[in-house]
Amino acid sequence: MQFVNIVTLLTLAVVLHSPCLFAGDSKTSCPTCRTIVDNFVKGLDKTAKKNFGGGNTAWEERALSKYETSEIRLVEILENLCDSSSFECNHMVEEHEEQFENWWFKKKDTYPDLLKWFCIDNIEVCCPRGTFGPDCNACVGGSERPCHNNGDCDGDGTRRGDGKCRCNKGYKGDFCLECDDGYFNKERNDTFSLCTECHESCQTCSGPTNKDCNECKSGWVQDDEKSCNDIDECANETSPCKENQYCHNKEGSFSCKACDAACTSCTGEGPEKCTGCSSGYTEEDGKCTDINECSLPDKSCLRVNEDCVNSKGSFKCVCSQGFEDKDGACIQTEETEENMEDEDSSETVSPDNVHEDL
Ligand SMILES: *[C@@H]1O[C@H](CO)[C@@H](O)[C@H](O)[C@H]1NC(C)=O
Ligand SMILES: *[C@@H]1O[C@H](CO)[C@@H](O)[C@H](O)[C@H]1NC(C)=O
Repeated sequence: MQFVNIVTLLTLAVVLHSPCLFAGDSKTSCPTCRTIVDNFVKGLDKTAKKNFGGGNTAWEERALSKYETSEIRLVEILENLCDSSSFECNHMVEEHEEQFENWWFKKKDTYPDLLKWFCIDNIEVCCPRGTFGPDCNACVGGSERPCHNNGDCDGDGTRRGDGKCRCNKGYKGDFCLECDDGYFNKERNDTFSLCTECHESCQTCSGPTNKDCNECKSGWVQDDEKSCNDIDECANETSPCKENQYCHNKEGSFSCKACDAACTSCTGEGPEKCTGCSSGYTEEDGKCTDINECSLPDKSCLRVNEDCVNSKGSFKCVCSQGFEDKDGACIQTEETEENMEDEDSSETVSPDNVHEDL
């Protein structure tokens, strides 16, 4: 008994590891089968003008007619059904080689549709279009126009899925006949529905213009004539933006943008649109302009051997070249002193330095 059990277990293990088990019902087995059939048809095309040899004699004519239905032609077609990298495809072809031979030699005149004969009726991995699942039942909405042509039927054309609809954009409901929010029915009967987008101002609507809204989208308001119009949020007495921002109105909304660095507040882009100047700037010719603190009559940098450096909205006091900050004073850099003694040329090349030293 013990021995038998081990053998059974080993067999089971081998079977479980064999790809044959899941190759037949994987999610991709129907698409794989359709690819095989497509490539079979291409192979038929490619080999249509071929024969056993070259030439075109009467003997060759007879040979050609034999080639047409020959095993050699079948093998040529079978060899080119799959990419070498596709395991599932190659496996499916190998596993069903006999069926291909059977169809080629005996069935193809009676059942010319290889997809139906092979993928649907024989190995049962596909269903006819518009049907789904193990028994190829009709999709929701019927097999002629699954989901009323407004969506995808789950498992359509395969042995999988539940036949329910995933509606296209703009449609909803089990049958994809109803219109989603923001869409309205342009045409509609029991089996047909065409949903079209509402005007951008409508949340819901019954027609294409801003007069057909049932409800305005936020950012839009209904006027006396029942049309939805853009709210100019920027025209409000109290700006919806922060102090150092300006408001930019858009259809259905608005945005806040930063004022120029020269402004404390503003009505638009750039230093010309300031309504107040930042510190370090002064109003000049209708815009906020940087104050050059370094050229004011009252000196901004007061220590000996330091330079004033202006920047936008501010200035800096830095020790002159050849000097460094030590305990709050600018004193001569030792290293530089030596360098300058060594390199006489630098003094003649840069008269500025000479001047500073004085
Ligand atoms: C529904 O409308 C479509 C498109 O206008 C039309 O082809 C179809 O015959 C109509 N069906 C019925 C039942 O009225
Ligand atoms: C103006 O702003 C106030 C306060 O933020 C707000 O309650 C009001 O709805 C706004 N009016 C308009 C027309 O946007």
